[in-house]
Parts: sequence; C-alpha cells; structure tokens
Amino acid sequence: MTGQTSRRRFLKIAGASGVIAAAAGGGYMLTRGPTRALRPWQEAGTAFHADPVRAALSYAILAPSPYNRQPWLVELPGPQEALLYCDLDRLLPHTDPFNRQTVIALGCFLELFSLAAAEAGFTTQIDLFPQGDPGNGLDSRPIARLGLTAQPDLPGDPLFAHCLNRRTTREIYDMGRDVPAAALDRLQTAALAAATVRFGATRNQAEAGQLRKLTREGVHREFASRAVRQETVDFMRIGRREIERNPDGIAVSNPIVELLQQLDMIDRENMAARKSRAFALGFERMEKLTLASPGFFWIATADNDRSSQIAAGRAYLRTALQATADGLAMQPLSQALREYPGMRKLYVQMHRLLMEQPGERIQMLARIGYAKPVPPAPRWPLEHRLRASASG
Ligand SMILES: Cc1cc2nc3c(=O)[nH]c(=O)nc-3n(C[C@H](O)[C@H](O)[C@H](O)COP(=O)(O)O)c2cc1C
Repeated sequence: MTGQTSRRRFLKIAGASGVIAAAAGGGYMLTRGPTRALRPWQEAGTAFHADPVRAALSYAILAPSPYNRQPWLVELPGPQEALLYCDLDRLLPHTDPFNRQTVIALGCFLELFSLAAAEAGFTTQIDLFPQGDPGNGLDSRPIARLGLTAQPDLPGDPLFAHCLNRRTTREIYDMGRDVPAAALDRLQTAALAAATVRFGATRNQAEAGQLRKLTREGVHREFASRAVRQETVDFMRIGRREIERNPDGIAVSNPIVELLQQLDMIDRENMAARKSRAFALGFERMEKLTLASPGFFWIATADNDRSSQIAAGRAYLRTALQATADGLAMQPLSQALREYPGMRKLYVQMHRLLMEQPGERIQMLARIGYAKPVPPAPRWPLEHRLRASASG
C-alpha cells in the first residue's frame, strides 16, 4: 500500500475528516490544549512588558480578528510612541476581498490599546493614517500613529476589567433564556462611547428569526464557495503541535485529531471538498449555531471608508467587553456581510433588513445569548508582532 493509498483508506475507515469538522465547529477541548499559544493571555500587563507602550500592546494583541489572523504589526520608533501597520501577509483575499474586516480588527486593537493605556494612567493620541488614507487597497503605510501622555489622575474605563475574559463563543446558546433588554442598552452605551457608529440589536423572536434565516443562508453560501471554504480550511490549526507552532487561525484540538495530525493523516484538500463528510458535518454544526441565536446586535456606519471601519472595530471591541461583563456569550456571524460575488444577493438582503439610511454599511453582525464558557483563542506573542523601526 502506498502512503497515499493507506492514508485515503484510513480516512475512509475512521471517518477522520468528520471528526475534525465536528471538533472545528465546537472549538477545542482542554484535555491537552495548547500552552505556549495561550501564554499571551497570562503575560498581558506583567512586569515582562515594563514600558507603558509594550504593556498596552500586550493587551492589544488579545483583540479579536477575522479567522484570528492577528493582522497587526507594530514599530516602536521612540519612547511612548508606536506605529501600527497592517501585516499584508495576514489578509484573507477570498473571504475579505476589500480587507474591510481586517481593518475592523485593527480598530479593535486600537481600542484595546487605549483602554489598557488608560488603566495605567496614560491617554492615547491616535492619528489615523498619518501618511495618507490607503483607500481601497491597503499598503505598507501605517494605519495609525499612537502616542502616550502620562495623566496619573486619568480614570480607567470599567470595561477594561473584562478584556482577559472576552471570548468568541462558538457554542449553542440557550434558546430558553432571553437576553435582557437592559443588557442590550448597555451594549449600545458601550459601543457609542468611543466611536461614531450606529448600534442596532434585537431580542424580538420574529426579528431574530429573520436574522437566523439570513445568517443560516449565509453559511450555506459560504460553504458553496470552494475558494472561501479552502481559505477556512487553510487557516484551521489542527492539533496541539500546529496550534503551538502557528498560534493564529481557528484552533482545532482534541486527542483524536492530534493523533491523526501526528500520523500525517490530515488531508486538507479532502476537508474542503464539497462531498466530503467534513463538509457535511462542518455545515450542520454552523447551521445549528446560527439557529441557536436568541438575540443579535449589529454595528453600522454611515459610509464604508477606512476610518469608519476602524470606528466599527472600536465599537465592536467595547460591546464585546460589555457582553463579557454581563455574562453574555457572543459570536460574529459575518458570512452575509462579506463582499465576494457569491454572497452579493444575501449581502443586499441583509442590508435591506438592517440599514436605516441609504449608503449605510453594516460592519458587524453578531449573535448573543447565554452559553457555557470556552477557553481563550491562541495568540502570537507580542515580540512576534513587533518589527524593527524604519527610523531606528
Ligand atoms: C471583523 C471580524 C469578523 C469576524 N467574523 C467571525 C465570523 O463570521 N464567525 C466567527 O465565528 N468568528 C468571527 N470573528 C471572531 C474571530 O474569529 C475571533 O476573534 C478569533 O478567532 C479570535 O478569538 P477570540 O475572539 O476568542 O479571541 C470575527 C472577528 C472580527 C474582528
């Protein structure tokens, strides 16, 4: 039996790809979870990051990003200063063709940076696009210049207290437990405090039902695109070893998957194939998640320029922290907001449903509810996301 044949046979016998898809949909188990890949969650703010810029950055790298790509890259040109760049090697060309979601993630990063700095008694001056707005195509110019100024009497933001517990929760949410109206009001207050955006939310079951239907359809269409599916599979980190080596992407870790990985029996092409069992199971799991969504919220901006995308990210990060404070689980469901041609029809329907003004863009849509807790997602250490300053 050749290596290839034996591999195929094993996959067939064990239904291995199905196991992987089920694990992917359900996050990872902690039986033998990663350790080094989670260290940034323990090291944030410790003495290890002695200067205030590094200390704030050690929190900012815990920001959410699509597919956990962590697209930030930082230079430290001088004391109390940082330049934030987008790492152009961390884009999602098929899923996010205009890099809109990547820029939202950079907005999340900026908000978390400034919350962490405020906690340490520093105000953050953020100059967006100091060498010009990149417009449609992102390029090598900086996204923002950050400057810290000491202000010892600065009151911290209470949201900061929740940043180490914030998670994206890909679990079934309790459909028997309503999201309180007051909690949605608090999300709105959190979102609007730092950014010019519009916040919308619903806990009404007729409205939520429409969103469940559209997001489910979005999942359906996403799975119909081979290129997008392959991008998803490419950024799955399968097994502890792979997660530790590349602590980004979507982590999949359980003992069976790990064994298959060690035996070199993971076949990524097979996983992305439409007729594969992995496809069917992954799809079913995602469908179940969209249907188990008691409430939704969304963040809209009046236009879709890069500054608006940054504002949406800042607002999103704050809502995520407020949700954490209220014991609520949340997960963005971005499928129907993505801009590749196969999603066009649904994108228009979603905007028709949620848009309040002509030209408005729905930047984020997330499900919200109550669910069992999940572990944190892997991160690259801060040092990995720093690069030598061009001027220094
Ligand atoms: C702009 C944006 C879009 C996202 N879209 C999705 C999505 O459609 N589905 C999903 O499960 N997570 C989505 N996420 C969440 C990321 O996958 C998540 O932040 C990342 O895996 C890291 O996990 P963490 O948030 O628990 O730290 C999105 C995050 C951002 C910032």
